Amino acid sequence: MSVMGCQWRPNVINMSCMLIAQITDTHVVPTDSEKGRLMMTETHLIAAVKHLLALRPKPNAVLISGDLVEDGSRQEYELLAELLAPLKAEIPIYLAPGNHDEREAMREVLRAHGYSYLPAEGHLQYVVDLGELRLLSLDTVVPGEPGGYLCEERLAWLDARLAEDPRPTIVMQHHPPFVTGLVRMDRMGLSNASDEAQVVRKHSHVIRILSGHLHRSICSGFAGTMAMTAPSCAHAVELDLQTEGRLAVLREPPAASVHLWKDGNLVSHTSFIGDYGPPYVIAE
Ligand SMILES: [Fe+2]
Repeated sequence: MSVMGCQWRPNVINMSCMLIAQITDTHVVPTDSEKGRLMMTETHLIAAVKHLLALRPKPNAVLISGDLVEDGSRQEYELLAELLAPLKAEIPIYLAPGNHDEREAMREVLRAHGYSYLPAEGHLQYVVDLGELRLLSLDTVVPGEPGGYLCEERLAWLDARLAEDPRPTIVMQHHPPFVTGLVRMDRMGLSNASDEAQVVRKHSHVIRILSGHLHRSICSGFAGTMAMTAPSCAHAVELDLQTEGRLAVLREPPAASVHLWKDGNLVSHTSFIGDYGPPYVIAE
């Protein structure tokens, strides 16, 4: 398969083109619960899985950048695994924890469902070899807190992993390392982003930091690279850049980020999930 003049070889390492899809903040909760009836996240994830499976070319990897489930229960992780199973059968899925996740339940249930790259103990962070690229998935979670933090151990891990390999590297972490202007959400941001900036600035091969948490598509410069959040594949956070205390969600179209690695550059697209009718072809 060819994409814009380059050879497309899905799921084969050493490729010159690669597609990495990202969804985030799936907040899975059973539909037969009060929250589930309100949020409908089970239905949203089923739609997202269908959407990702229909992408052409087929993605080489799917990232899910945290808040995988709503309350962190084993039951929710079992449901998440069940909903992701058709996608996982076709494409490798890499998961990061968010503030709604519970480390031990996530680890135990998902390792049992074949997410064996999740470490058996400690922080839920790991390295993935994607051929021309590397993925470092970081754990920014502080148990019981909505905001994120990177302790000395996690910062040292990031520094060491970046120092050991010069390949272009994507860092995935739930909490983005930049202030967004969404005041209420910024209060639950990554509290020591400046410490992460000191590490990232040392390593010019960090090509992107991919996050979730904001339930909106946002990008910003950060420490000499680009950081961005993917839109949620469920509910969105209201774009309110002036009200201090308000936090509201709304039903904007769910979406995925689609990152294309081509000719040594990573370009990021937004792909809306839903039925918007057939394309009107302008030219063939
Ligand atoms: Fe979230």
